[in-house]
Amino acid sequence: MARTVAIVNQKGGVGKTTVTLGLASAAQVAGHSVLVVDLDPQAASSWVLGADPAAVEHSTAEVLAKGAVGAAIVESGWGAGVDLLPASTRLQVKEHSGSKDAATRLRSALQALDGRYDAILIDCPPSLGNLTVNGLTAADHAVIVVEPAALGLRGIGAVADIVDQVWDSFNPDLELAGVIVNKMPAVSNEADRRYEELARIVGKRAVWQPAIPQRVLVNQAIADRRSLHSYGSRAADLTEAFDRLWAKLRRVTKV
Ligand SMILES: Nc1ncnc2c1ncn2[C@@H]1O[C@H](COP(=O)(O)OP(=O)(O)OP(=O)(O)O)[C@@H](O)[C@H]1O
Ligand SMILES: [Mg+2]
Repeated sequence: MARTVAIVNQKGGVGKTTVTLGLASAAQVAGHSVLVVDLDPQAASSWVLGADPAAVEHSTAEVLAKGAVGAAIVESGWGAGVDLLPASTRLQVKEHSGSKDAATRLRSALQALDGRYDAILIDCPPSLGNLTVNGLTAADHAVIVVEPAALGLRGIGAVADIVDQVWDSFNPDLELAGVIVNKMPAVSNEADRRYEELARIVGKRAVWQPAIPQRVLVNQAIADRRSLHSYGSRAADLTEAFDRLWAKLRRVTKV
């Protein structure tokens, strides 16, 4: 059974898309196959994976409206191993007009793909609105991405509450798989303190190792629409982190 993982945080810019794509990159190099589901109207992961959000005909918006997922899946620009269910700007209205049916449609559509992928990664938007609820309803696991900063940690309780609410109302299979720390500076007492604080808040075991280092190459890869692993040794510390996180995801989400 494919692992379906929603990557969430209502805070913008923490690295949900970076983590989604970094894990997809690690999976591809390991010879596994993943589907990236873009639930963010900003469509950043779709763009990096080669789709033009303005030209996409079948997007996650149509899957939420009608269900059928087959026509919407495309091969990504990264090549074999990474497929994409792209977002479109039409997704924006779904943030304000959610229904239990829409959430169930995405869930059933992804379940119908059973066996085609080792994992399905859902890149959620920076909100705790309908789209994130839809993503969590369709997922078996939630992964929260945080930055090691004071303001970043303050919102984590609200994210955990939404995971609980979706579990309670829509999706008894949903589990909070863990927290990934992104943008870890090489040397920073402040970041180290926040890391410790996070471990106290969510429990040490819930914080996945390692943290993802802060590197300019992450911006570069997004601009170039390339996978981190395609940079070879230039991206070594990033790809090593994502290889370990991908292995962790496979262990934690094993059913
Ligand atoms: N480890 C990192 N090192 C350096 N820059 C990073 C790192 N991770 C992310 N960034 C940069 O931070 C910005 C936000 O990252 P990203 O788009 O992944 O966050 P997001 O949570 O998906 O944002 P949004 O909430 O808008 O969807 C991007 O410009 C990205 O290149
Ligand atoms: Mg994003």
